[in-house]
Amino acid sequence: MADNKRPETMERITTEALAQAFIDEQIKAIREQVGDKKVLLALSGGVDSSVVAALLIKAIGNNLVCVHVNHGLLRKGEPEMVIKVFKEELGANLIYVDAVDRFLDKLAGVDDPETKRKIIGKEFIDVFAEEAGKLDGIAFLGQGTIYPDILESDGVKAHHNVGGLPEDLQFELVEPVKFLYKDEVRVVGKTLGLPDNMVYRQPFPGPGLGVRCVGAITRDRLEAVREADAIVREEIDKMDPTPWQYFCAIPDFQSTGIKDGKRYMGWAVVVRAVNTVDAVTAESVEIPWDMLKRIRDRIIETVPGVNRVLWDISDKPVSTIEWE
Ligand code: XMP
Repeated sequence: MADNKRPETMERITTEALAQAFIDEQIKAIREQVGDKKVLLALSGGVDSSVVAALLIKAIGNNLVCVHVNHGLLRKGEPEMVIKVFKEELGANLIYVDAVDRFLDKLAGVDDPETKRKIIGKEFIDVFAEEAGKLDGIAFLGQGTIYPDILESDGVKAHHNVGGLPEDLQFELVEPVKFLYKDEVRVVGKTLGLPDNMVYRQPFPGPGLGVRCVGAITRDRLEAVREADAIVREEIDKMDPTPWQYFCAIPDFQSTGIKDGKRYMGWAVVVRAVNTVDAVTAESVEIPWDMLKRIRDRIIETVPGVNRVLWDISDKPVSTIEWE
């Protein structure tokens, strides 16, 4: 498709000056495309949707309607950050949907990873479509498609699990960053004034902590993954350079611990840090021993239900990056 090919003359956006020229050009193009109509955007807080939101806010202000769905599988502080940056600082027209119970009820007892992904993907579309149905006058759908999505998957945002929107929600798409590579999206985000922890955020899977709470998700183990993940990120953030991706998972088994002279069963947190170019192969990153010990102590002392911390030193292949 000709309009899905990056123009050969397009210069790589490597500086804020080039990014500013791109932003000015896109603001004009967006205004031409949508006029005074409304655009709907699913805003996850990831780099791509955040940059598209910031661009659209500049171009059409409150005619952009952002929907942030909290499915309960986001990392600690993420929904709060989306609200702070977009609603409070950028004045976005933002609808926050607390769908935590709905997702977790649907996922209860489901232990097959692909079934979990499908449920999360389908539920997300249902929630988004319901919110869209409540709104009047939406004519366009904003999307954070980037160039690798087009190259890899025929123009569909490559989140393994998310299908298309239902028939009655087939809006015309607004995809202002569809010819950009990830590094270019980051320069544009930085130039738009988005915070560094949003712009340089490590990749985070669409099904979120759902695939890191290994096996059937329970609310207590999910909270433990969320708390432990916040500690792992806070500590490994201090590495320079930081690894490409770093997180933890909690498998669905318990092992023996000892407290106040008594044996008890608790979960094991698995710490993982990898470097990769394209996520097709990956190498385990060496985490300094002092940092690992600090991670261990903080997790054991503060995360309820955890009595063991493990370090996953496997490469991909044969291990995948995620645990499921
Ligand atoms: P694996 O585990 O397959 O992961 O080695 C490779 C990269 O893909 C991410 N990942 C996902 N991203 N939806 C996503 O959007 C998913 O279902 C999913 N599964 C894995 C993973 O975090 C890693 O960066």
